[in-house]
Amino acid sequence: MSKLVWQNSRHALQAGAMDGAHREFVVLINQLAEASDQEELHHLNRLQAHCEDHFAQEARWMQLFSLPNPEKHLRDHDEVMALLRQAHEDLRGGKAGSGRELTETLARWFERHSTTLDAALAFQMQQTSQPKCVGIAAVG
Ligand SMILES: [Fe+2]
Ligand SMILES: [Fe+2]
Repeated sequence: MSKLVWQNSRHALQAGAMDGAHREFVVLINQLAEASDQEELHHLNRLQAHCEDHFAQEARWMQLFSLPNPEKHLRDHDEVMALLRQAHEDLRGGKAGSGRELTETLARWFERHSTTLDAALAFQMQQTSQPKCVGIAAVG
């Protein structure tokens, strides 16, 4: 498959730790896509572990920065975890290529998810972490 290519202009959200996780996601997707049959389970395991941490961290940020209506974002993560679990099951059951095939879907998912739901979370974090401008009452 064609590689998922990180593009700063498209993918960087100016949100340090989140951008770091997204860069790692891109690397792991590409490693899985290019894995041999012998390496496939190892790279699928690494991607699964990454996604658990990555999504758990974003869920913590949603709470910490009071993201409105986080349900759709959380559901989008859950759907990816379900796809990863299914690919894992299929691979363990002897269906070679299950992990590699999933990378096409996950690459398309990442293009959509990172530029919409993650971008909205990053925006919320940037807004909320700005010092509040407090009006100073004129002293009469
Ligand atoms: Fe993300
Ligand atoms: Fe996300």
